[in-house]
Amino acid sequence: GIDPNFDSNRENVGEENGVEVWGPVDPPEKLGIHGTHVAVDYDICVADGACLENCPVDVFTWVDTPDHPASEKKVEPTREDQCIDCMLCVDICPVDAIDVDAS
Ligand code: SF4
Ligand code: F3S
Repeated sequence: GIDPNFDSNRENVGEENGVEVWGPVDPPEKLGIHGTHVAVDYDICVADGACLENCPVDVFTWVDTPDHPASEKKVEPTREDQCIDCMLCVDICPVDAIDVDAS
């Protein structure tokens, strides 16, 4: 699953779609972690979609990631500032790709 300490263990490599990205990044195979308060490990996400469908405040947006080995689309936490820390997405993701820093 996603490393919950990614923000100290990884380097911030900039922004995409208004969301911070944590490397290493080497597209199309390696896309890093997207987001900070709500973080999605793009290299683990298999596009299950349960997070996006069930988030009560619509934090997530689909983005296309052609040729990524795990899945050809991912969820971008574009509205992570709206997150209410319900932890539903963390609990529901079948591959443990999401970390929400509710502390
Ligand atoms: Fe949405 Fe809840 Fe996940 Fe926050 S913790 S992104 S509100 S499902
Ligand atoms: Fe991806 Fe998990 Fe959501 S696989 S689409 S982060 S439920």
